[in-house]
Amino acid sequence: MLKSRVMARGATGLTVNVCAALALGAAAFAQAQAPPSPADGVVLAEQYFKNVQALRGIPVDEFMDTMGMFAAATGMNCVDCHVSDAGGDWTKYADDTPFKRTTRRMVAMVNTLNEGSFGGRRLVTCFTCHRGLKVPATLPNLDLQYGEPPPVDPDQIARSTPGAPTPDQILDKYLQALGGTQRVAAITSITGKGSYRAYDDFQLSPLDLYAKAPDQRTTIQHSPYGDMTITYDGKNAWMAAPRDIRPFPVVQYSGGNLDGARVDAILEFPGRLKQALTNWRVGPESSVNVQDVQIVQATTPSGFLVKLYFDSKTGLLLRSVRYSDSPVGKVPVRVDYSDYRAVSGVKVPFKRVATWTDGRTVFQLDSVQVNTAVDASRFVKPKPPAPAKP
Ligand code: HEC
Ligand code: HEC
Repeated sequence: MLKSRVMARGATGLTVNVCAALALGAAAFAQAQAPPSPADGVVLAEQYFKNVQALRGIPVDEFMDTMGMFAAATGMNCVDCHVSDAGGDWTKYADDTPFKRTTRRMVAMVNTLNEGSFGGRRLVTCFTCHRGLKVPATLPNLDLQYGEPPPVDPDQIARSTPGAPTPDQILDKYLQALGGTQRVAAITSITGKGSYRAYDDFQLSPLDLYAKAPDQRTTIQHSPYGDMTITYDGKNAWMAAPRDIRPFPVVQYSGGNLDGARVDAILEFPGRLKQALTNWRVGPESSVNVQDVQIVQATTPSGFLVKLYFDSKTGLLLRSVRYSDSPVGKVPVRVDYSDYRAVSGVKVPFKRVATWTDGRTVFQLDSVQVNTAVDASRFVKPKPPAPAKP
């Protein structure tokens, strides 16, 4: 998963002195707290952050996903809910505001609703009422009632849709579209170079991709603030990011984030997809950017769901969606694939757009090579990023 910057925009004004302020803030933070490092395993939010009351007992990465859920559900930015001068200093996020207090009450209300009426299942989430609005609407919207309905996209596919193609047919068509089962199966590594642009970046920055079958993957985003690295080594995943992008230099992923990193790695090697996931179900026909798609759902080895959207005409994969957990509902992460180009006879998506609750990043590969030797050192736990050169 490629986290970046709607959040960073909250955390940093893009001015030069912010960098100095940040460095000071970082040092003070480290000294005052000396918390356990989220780099070396799963650390709970209350062990790392200063003022956690409502969201205790969840890992730090899930805590940040919950912030993304809050933002997505209410349409509020990080700094709308936190103090407005939090920009540039993560410690300020601990200060309470009226909105933070209301939000804690909302978390308690959501828990009460789910416990009291839905047997503890997280069916009521922040989004259920807010739908992107700070104050939920109370009146039904007639335009919605009479307007064009949005494309079908069930949260979860309970059973395969009768009359739809089988998962095998869809996956076989996909492999054919990519260049044929044998050629696709012969791909054992991928390396790529290109550029990326985060949601509120003005410029493109360089990007490196390394992947090795069956399921190792690393992306390095060379941001102006320093390198941001996401690695899945086949078992564990980490993100290393400059402090103006994330509050911890290195975090080990847990739960849905760990699984998402694995899904991204698996999807680099479609020849193994059928075996890598289980419990395949075919959902309804729908559309992605006006192209007809067939939605397929599968379960990962650790039991998380992933939805794959295949172009009904070409057979190619256009989208994947998977979910991270949060105490107030599941948080989606979506990747759109396009610009398929043949590399050694196999089609590879050169463009990938990752969208999640607190950011969107466009990745564009310019050159891709397959089956070159990729050193094992590419897939070890990343080091904290060196500060960017001035
Ligand atoms: C709708 C309100 C809301 C939004 C939007 C929101 N937060 Fe929070 N944030 C909270 C609340 C409430 C807490 C305290 C949680 C608790 O008590 O367990 C918190 C706590 C935090 C903390 C821990 C601070 C500390 O040291 O105790 C950080 C860091 C943080 N938020 C970052 C963010 C970021 C980054 C964003 C934007 C993606 C964001 N928040 C968006 C409500 C919000
Ligand atoms: C059952 C419906 C419902 C759910 C679920 C819900 N809210 Fe609310 N929320 C409301 C209503 C209604 C208001 C407006 C209250 C008012 O105006 O006094 C509100 C107000 C708020 C406000 C204050 C907005 C303002 O302008 O004062 C915040 C922030 C907020 N909710 C965040 C959340 C978060 C975060 C969640 C998930 C943990 C959540 N809400 C879940 C119904 C809900």
